[in-house]
Amino acid sequence: MRSRNLFVCAVAMLGVMLRSEWLAFSGRVWMRDLLIRAAEAAAPPAVRVHEIVAGQARAMTLFHLLNLGIFDELAEKGPTACRELGRGTFSEVGASFACRYARFGAGAGLLERLANGSVALTEAGKLLVSNHPTSMRDYVMIKFDQRYYESERRVGEPSNLAAREPKSGFKLATGLEFFDYMKTAPDFADLFDAGMQGFSAAVDRVIVADYEVSPSATVCDVGGGTGHLLASFLQEYPKARGILFDQDEQVKAALQKGPLRPFAERTQFVATNFFETLSPVTATCDVIFMKWIVHDWGDEDAVQILRNVAAAALPGATLVLFEMTLDVDGPSFERLKHVTDFYMLNLPVGARERTLADPPRHCFAIDSQYSE
Ligand SMILES: C[S@@+](CC[C@H](N)C(=O)[O-])C[C@H]1O[C@@H](n2cnc3c(N)ncnc32)[C@H](O)[C@@H]1O
Repeated sequence: MRSRNLFVCAVAMLGVMLRSEWLAFSGRVWMRDLLIRAAEAAAPPAVRVHEIVAGQARAMTLFHLLNLGIFDELAEKGPTACRELGRGTFSEVGASFACRYARFGAGAGLLERLANGSVALTEAGKLLVSNHPTSMRDYVMIKFDQRYYESERRVGEPSNLAAREPKSGFKLATGLEFFDYMKTAPDFADLFDAGMQGFSAAVDRVIVADYEVSPSATVCDVGGGTGHLLASFLQEYPKARGILFDQDEQVKAALQKGPLRPFAERTQFVATNFFETLSPVTATCDVIFMKWIVHDWGDEDAVQILRNVAAAALPGATLVLFEMTLDVDGPSFERLKHVTDFYMLNLPVGARERTLADPPRHCFAIDSQYSE
């Protein structure tokens, strides 16, 4: 039996952190929200529908520019005439298509068309270069994976919604739930892990800037993927130690090629199934992060995971959940959170973004259930 205050639970998410670069970022988001509200109020209904459909063309443009290697090429060569893109591999007609994609990319703010007719990367375009330190390339690529596409298309079909027990998108598309499928498809697992790292890169920096740990803390990340968040902490705190917990395959990959490699002598890698008893090393954690884990599961599973972590942790350790908590931010963030909630339809039924009032009421409620 553990005391109710075993965990001081900090529920942090995009939107409650207020310092440094975050302040400048959120100021720009606030301004954008204001302009979006004004633009939406002024848009005739038909324009709204066109805008939604145009979103698909813009996303497909982004996919083709990535798939053709245009962002990497422009990063290497600098501004280039659109007909010279493709490193000499495009036919004449192919080159004319590439010019059109470059023009669409400029329309989407990913590329810039210079006065001399060449194209260059914008700041958003630079984030899509493979070797950018916070590259979002793999995050974008996974969204165009055929399995994701099938999953997202089929989950909302009338037959699924009318079924007594509707299935998750991934179950429909692959026959397996998302994380079970990952174990059978290393190519998908690699892409997903890299995609999570890309999606998370900017967020990790904000978390490290805004969440302080003691200088020699043992910082743990349960379900930490490639170890990107942990690596950001170990970079910031040279005396801290880190422990990465994730599934066997993820931990092996993190050990071989993840961002924790430069910190290997301060890091432990622990293969974990968080539905079972966690390793006794959990008791050495001062702070335990679980970022974007609870949203992957229904209430019962989420409670089980949190109980398992609580049971293995030392009394007094801090558990920090990072979630996309709904209904606490302005339109830009709420929009983003509704998109991630849409992605949750790929995962086992019950997975979803939650409000603070939703079960499992994050760890305050979990802790008291556990204590009782
Ligand atoms: C949505 S990802 C979040 C990754 C990382 N925390 C981040 O924010 O980028 C969920 C993570 O949970 C891990 N996971 C899924 N099922 C697990 C299990 N049964 N035991 C341990 N980890 C698991 C996955 O491998 C994946 O790395």
